[in-house]
Amino acid sequence: MADDWQNKLYFGDNLDILREHIADESVDLIYLDPPFNSNATYNVLFRERSGEESAAQITAFDDTWRWSMESEFAYQDVVSNGPQRLGRLLAAMREFLGQNDMMAYLTMMAQRLAELHRVLKPTGSIYLHCDPTASHYLKLMMDAVFGYDNFLNEIVWYYRGAGVPKKSRAKRHDVILNYAKKNGEQFFNPDPIRQPYAEATTERFSHYIGNVRAGQDYGEQKLNPKGKHPDDVITHIQPIAPSARARLGYPTQKPEELLANIIAASSNEGDVVLDPFCGCGTAVAVAERLKRRWIGIDITHLAISLVRHRLRDTFGEDLLPYEVVGAPQDLASAEALAVDSENDGRYQFEWWALGLVDARPAGDRKKGADAGIDGYINFFDDNSGKPKRIIVQVKSGNVQRNQIATLKGDMEREKAAIGLFITLKPPTRPMAQEAASAGVYAPEHYPDRQFPRLQILTIDDLLSGAQADYPRLAPQATFRRAPRRRGRQGAQGSLG
Ligand SMILES: C[S@@+](CC[C@H](N)C(=O)[O-])C[C@H]1O[C@@H](n2cnc3c(N)ncnc32)[C@H](O)[C@@H]1O
Repeated sequence: MADDWQNKLYFGDNLDILREHIADESVDLIYLDPPFNSNATYNVLFRERSGEESAAQITAFDDTWRWSMESEFAYQDVVSNGPQRLGRLLAAMREFLGQNDMMAYLTMMAQRLAELHRVLKPTGSIYLHCDPTASHYLKLMMDAVFGYDNFLNEIVWYYRGAGVPKKSRAKRHDVILNYAKKNGEQFFNPDPIRQPYAEATTERFSHYIGNVRAGQDYGEQKLNPKGKHPDDVITHIQPIAPSARARLGYPTQKPEELLANIIAASSNEGDVVLDPFCGCGTAVAVAERLKRRWIGIDITHLAISLVRHRLRDTFGEDLLPYEVVGAPQDLASAEALAVDSENDGRYQFEWWALGLVDARPAGDRKKGADAGIDGYINFFDDNSGKPKRIIVQVKSGNVQRNQIATLKGDMEREKAAIGLFITLKPPTRPMAQEAASAGVYAPEHYPDRQFPRLQILTIDDLLSGAQADYPRLAPQATFRRAPRRRGRQGAQGSLG
């Protein structure tokens, strides 16, 4: 292990990050769970769309990938510069599928799979998590990129669920495609993920079972005391229930146990685990716990914020230092992010700014839930267990007094204890006066302290370490806190 290694959380498009930052053959294990709207009906996925219609519908949170000019360029890139077999396959798929969401998804995946193959070590392996909506196409693509000789397993993750269709069987499994970079050289240790034998098997082996083959006696057959060799169907791990304590509010969050199953068997302590679509960081958190090195990449600041909180809440002081790459560190890059966010209609600047004060984004924008509030922070200032609320507004453009007046109104309506106004541009004097006129918040348990009811912080202040001023009696509960783990445990015996 290189001594100067630091775990890394990258904000950005994984294609760029892989190309610019990740060296050839530097990663031991890759897990990826790319976003895909498998809930959309099958016909929608295959319906042809015009470029404009589709690009306009994209938001950073949207699970689907739609055919656009970007897909067209990506397609040309793979066909002209990608591995030959992959280019030929993609051209054939386009012939068959046309230009629809499915094809857009596969085209984007083709570029990324080629890069993932490049960064994987010869002893490494990759697990691609998907579902039956696209797994058959992805398997062809994995064959083209990794080679069918390197196919190891199509792992079926079976889980329970509610709801049944009238005219077909219920869909109850995901597919995880597992390939080696070089079949035979991959690291694999079944021991940490062995399962108990079935009762009937244990019963059968409780009597002497001989083993005579071709006239030779190989002695007694015995069960492995460590348990049954894992097979390619996982049935003992369930998705995280919507109400579970472990759920962090990220819709596609996978259970840690599933990731532990993969990471413990296919990597060693100190190995590098890469998750290029890391979401709220399940693979990253498990890699940290199992003492692997890790690299996480995500394209939204929301995910990056969640991962940071999750790591802090889970490991506390035991967390090894890690680097966040790609998030603005100074005013100039914050300004650039604001311009980019404005141009591509995303909420990146806002999510990033909310992350600076540990605020949670408010509502689902797609449903138009925005009532003038961008985020909120919950805090506790007594022992009643009832959180108080700070509502947060983020502005990257010009600012003026009446925005503060509006926030004051929002605070009344939402019964918020404190209002926080975050601005990229410096506030005017009338804004400061308006904020001061909101008075102070004076909680009962803090007889000596008063907190301004309406606070203005600039991005510059925040980058210099300033924070909102509010009582912090008990741990903050803005993000659902990841359950705390004591110390970092080894791979063995730590599953489940
Ligand atoms: C299905 S989620 C992953 C969930 C994750 N396994 C977990 O347990 O939280 C997919 C993630 O990929 C991210 N994503 C989508 N396109 C990306 C890209 N081009 N580069 C990096 N991340 C991307 C999305 O923001 C989303 O967080």
